Amino acid sequence: MQGAKLHFVGQFLLAALALGSIASQAQEFNYDETAVPTYTLPDPLVLTDGSPVTDAATWRDQRRPEILSLFEQHVYGKTPEQSLALRFEVMSEDTAALGGVATRKEVAVYFTGDDDGPRMDILLYLPNSRTEPVATFVALNYYGNHSIHADPDITLSTQWMRPREEFGVVDNRATEAARGVRASRWPVERILERGYGLATVYYGDIDPDVDDGFQNGVHPLFYDEGQTVPAANEWASIGAWAWGLSRALDYFETDADIDAERVAVMGHSRHGKAALWAGAQDERFALVISNNSGSGGAALSRRRFGETVKLINTGFPHWFADNFKQYNDREDALPIDQHMLLALMAPRPVYVASAIEDRWADPRGEFLSARHADPVYRLLDTDGIATQQMPGVSQPIQSTIGYHVRPGGHSVMTYDWDRFMDFADRHLQR
Ligand code: GCU
Repeated sequence: MQGAKLHFVGQFLLAALALGSIASQAQEFNYDETAVPTYTLPDPLVLTDGSPVTDAATWRDQRRPEILSLFEQHVYGKTPEQSLALRFEVMSEDTAALGGVATRKEVAVYFTGDDDGPRMDILLYLPNSRTEPVATFVALNYYGNHSIHADPDITLSTQWMRPREEFGVVDNRATEAARGVRASRWPVERILERGYGLATVYYGDIDPDVDDGFQNGVHPLFYDEGQTVPAANEWASIGAWAWGLSRALDYFETDADIDAERVAVMGHSRHGKAALWAGAQDERFALVISNNSGSGGAALSRRRFGETVKLINTGFPHWFADNFKQYNDREDALPIDQHMLLALMAPRPVYVASAIEDRWADPRGEFLSARHADPVYRLLDTDGIATQQMPGVSQPIQSTIGYHVRPGGHSVMTYDWDRFMDFADRHLQR
């Protein structure tokens, strides 16, 4: 347990640093499989009134909407239904980027149509080898679009960023030194070589990742008259990031170079939580990928392994709807668990990726979610997940529910992207 405690203290400090606050007390957590409590998962194929779901129509018309609204009400909060008058503007385009292999575009998405209003910037790379609209991966990034590749022509973000000097962020702003600092997580050329487009957005453009009472980011655009914070069952930051991913998809529908019917949404860690929530709410996403998303993402909450509901709600009070805090230390009272989030993707392909040393995210809990989403996938006439047992390290499963656990810790590696592309080759190509 000693190593585990040290790891926790590290995580905790990182979280505290990331938030610019020092939390006062450390809380217990478990890394011991034999100490996982016994639990009963809610059945995705039983309606709240107790009747079983035995056909696709009942799933689609009754159970799916029921589960979606349970996640809105108790976990992520409700996303506003009102749509904004978005305006897209291509700010730059280079058809000979990356030594000629790519077309790079930067697209501003003005959320209110207004030039002075809030906006997010999409960075897009398309393979010049394309002969038709391309299938595209979209993923949020942590440190600005300029951080994903050393390409000097990417516009440097001017937005607020979490302080990380080693990533060239000084006084909460990116500097020239920030170019390409995250390139190892974004094998751009490799993605293009395999014929895919790649789109990314800095998540702070949508909502800065700090517990500041939702005064900036997109939340205020939707407040009712006199409202100053989201209500307890309304969206928080993860909800906003997921919303932003859907707005990127709105743009893709207008870009003839992209096949908007073959867009895979991918996210790592907190962005994995957001990618799953985006894929659950917006069925235009054809494929959904969670990388090390852990607590509040792919991992089952009831296992209480690694990061728990209480720990995440304490460390990151702005990520989930306030209602979720009612389940701190009360996971068994949740009307859902995270396997039901994965089931909301069905019958679309969904991939869950774990890392064996990333115990904080509970690799086994991530696998079990995938495994327990299987009955819904089978009801909808897919092959579900190809295994009942958690596969060994580096033994990827590529059925309609895909899964792998790789060696190493919490990160996105080329191995992960290669498996995501194998999965997309299999399930997304025409
Ligand atoms: C922290 C947090 C996790 C989150 C991760 C990340 O570790 O506890 O829930 O997934 O940060 O986003 O990197």
